[in-house]
Amino acid sequence: MCGIIGYTGVENAVPILVNGLKSLEYRGYDSSGIAVFEKDVVVVKEKGKISNLESKLQNIQLSANVGIGHTRWATHGRPDEINAHPHSSVNRTVTLVHNGIIENYAELKNELINMGYEFTSQTDTEVIAQLFESLFDGNAISTMIKTAEKLQGSYAVAMLIKGNEDKIYAMKKDSPLIVGKGENENFLASDIPAILSHTKDCYIVNDGEFVEISKNNIKIFDSKGVEKHFTTKRVDLTLSANEKNGYTYYMLKEIFEQPKAVRNTVAPLISNGKITLPFTPSEKLNHIHIVGCGSAYHVGVTGKYIIEELTRIPVTVDIASEFRYRNPIINKNDLCIFISQSGETADTLASLREAKRKGAFTLSIVNVPYSTISRESDAVIHTYAGHEIAVATTKAFSSQLAVLYILALFIRSKQNCIENYIDELLALPEKIEKTLKCENQMKLLAKHIATRKNVFFIGRGVDYPLCLEGSLKLKEISYIHSEGYGAGELKHGTISLIEEGTVVIALATDDTLLGKMISNMKEVASRGAILIAITNEDNNELEKIANHVIYVPKTNKIFSPSLTAIPLQLLAYHTTIEKGLDPDKPRNLAKSVTVE
Ligand code: F6R
Repeated sequence: MCGIIGYTGVENAVPILVNGLKSLEYRGYDSSGIAVFEKDVVVVKEKGKISNLESKLQNIQLSANVGIGHTRWATHGRPDEINAHPHSSVNRTVTLVHNGIIENYAELKNELINMGYEFTSQTDTEVIAQLFESLFDGNAISTMIKTAEKLQGSYAVAMLIKGNEDKIYAMKKDSPLIVGKGENENFLASDIPAILSHTKDCYIVNDGEFVEISKNNIKIFDSKGVEKHFTTKRVDLTLSANEKNGYTYYMLKEIFEQPKAVRNTVAPLISNGKITLPFTPSEKLNHIHIVGCGSAYHVGVTGKYIIEELTRIPVTVDIASEFRYRNPIINKNDLCIFISQSGETADTLASLREAKRKGAFTLSIVNVPYSTISRESDAVIHTYAGHEIAVATTKAFSSQLAVLYILALFIRSKQNCIENYIDELLALPEKIEKTLKCENQMKLLAKHIATRKNVFFIGRGVDYPLCLEGSLKLKEISYIHSEGYGAGELKHGTISLIEEGTVVIALATDDTLLGKMISNMKEVASRGAILIAITNEDNNELEKIANHVIYVPKTNKIFSPSLTAIPLQLLAYHTTIEKGLDPDKPRNLAKSVTVE
C-alpha cells in the first residue's frame, strides 16, 4: 500500500526520493509524487507507474536538498494525478504525504469548507493539509499536535512547512514511520528498505510522537510537545538484491524458493532433533486463537487441523477484521497467535492489540523484521522466507505453515515422542523440491483453466484449507472466479453451479478420507465436471475418475499442505500468464495492507 520517503541533506533530493519510492513499489500503488523545497515548494505527481513520474521529472529542472515522496494506493478518490500525493493547503503553508485513512475526514472537510477552504481532490489526505493550515500558529510542532488531536483514524504523515525550508516534519498513529540517521543527511520512510541503501541507523517512531528532521539534527517530541531523548538502533538487515534471477516474474521465483524458505525457517527452531522456541507456552495452555488475513488466515485454518490433531488443544481461527470487533472470549492461559508476512497488516495489528488488552499472551509469526506486529507481540517467531515481492504470497505461506507444525510438535513433545514427525518435517524441503517438478503439467492444465469462468476446489480434512488457499491464489491473480469448498458441503447448495465443463479441482491426500472424496468426485463428474485430482503418489485409483491427476510425494498427512500448495500456486501462476496478465501486480491489490 502507500509508501513514504523523506530526505533532507546536501545531495539532490529528487533522485533519492525517486529511488526510495522504487524500493517501495512492491507494496502496490497506483500513482506517485514528490514535493521539494526550491524557492517555494514544487509538487510533481503522476498517475500510474513511477516511471511516468520519472518521465515528467525529466522535463523539470529541480535541484533541492529537502523533499518528500509518496506512492499512493487509492482509498478515497480515483487513482489519478489530482488525488495523488503530495497535497498542499490553500496557501501552501503545508505540503504533505499521508499513509492511512482519516475516518472523520468528511466531518472535518465540511467544517473547513464552512470556513472558506476550497478542496481540489477527493482525498482524506487533503483534509489534513487544510486542517493544519487552519490551526497554524507559527510553530510546526504545536500545530501538528492540535491537528493530531482532531484526527480520527490511522496516519503516518510527512510534511514540508513554509518558513522551515531545511526541515521535514512528521507525525504518526497506527501506521508505520521510521527515521533514518545519516552523515549530513537524515531520512523519513514508511519502511526500512526504502532507506537501507543510505543508512542502517534507524529510530522507529511511536504513536503520538512528533518528528522534526534537518540535515544535521533529529528531534522527537512527545504528545505534549516536549522534546524526548531517543537513541537510534542499528538494524541488522541487508538490502536484498531483489533480482528476478532469470525468472520472468517474482512470483515464479518465489514459488521455486520455497524449499530454501522452509529450510531457513525451520533451521533456527530445530537442532539435533529438539525444538527450541523463543518462548515457553504456558503449562496450563487450554485454548489457542489464530488470527490473520487472506492467505495468513488460511495458514491459521490449516494450523487448526494440525494443532488439534497433534495436541488435542482446541483452536479458534479468525479473520483479523472480524476478531478485532467481535469481542472474542480470551482467557488468561490462552495463547493468541498472529500470522502476518508484512507484519504491518492493519486488522491483524489491531487484533493483536485487542488480545493484549484482554491480557492474553501474544505470539506473532512474521516475515518482515522490525515490523510493528513483531515489535508489539510478547514473542515472535520469524519466518525466513526472504523478501517477498509478488503480491500473492507463496514462500511466506509455506514458511508460516512450517512454524505452525513446529509449534504443534513442541506442545505434543511434552507428552509424546515426536521423533518420526521431526524426521518427516526435516524431509519436507526436499519433497517440496520434488513437487515443483509438476510445473510442466500445471502449465498444460493452465491453458484449459484460462478459458474458464468458474473453478471449484474441493477437499476434506487438512486439504480443505488448501482449497481455500488454491482458490484465493487463482482468483486474485487470474481474475477467474473460484470457490474453495469442503467436499461434503457442495451438495448443500453449490453443486447446483456444476454443469458440463465446470472445472473442479479435488484435493485428496488424506488416505483415511479417500473413499469419501471419491464419492464427492463422482457426484460432480456425473454432472459434467472436468475433474483435476491432486493426490499422493500411490493413489492410482483416482485415474479412473479424474480427467487429470497430479501426484505429490507421500508424507505424513499433517505435512501434506506444504506439498499440495505447490501445484495450486503453479496453476494460478501459469493460468495468469496464459491470460497475458501480470501475476506480480494484480489489479487493485497491495502487498502490505495498512488500512482496514
Ligand atoms: C494472498 C495474500 C494476502 C495476504 C494478506 C495478509 O496471496 O498474499 O491474502 O496473505 O493480505 O497479509 P500479511 O501476511 O502481510 O498480513
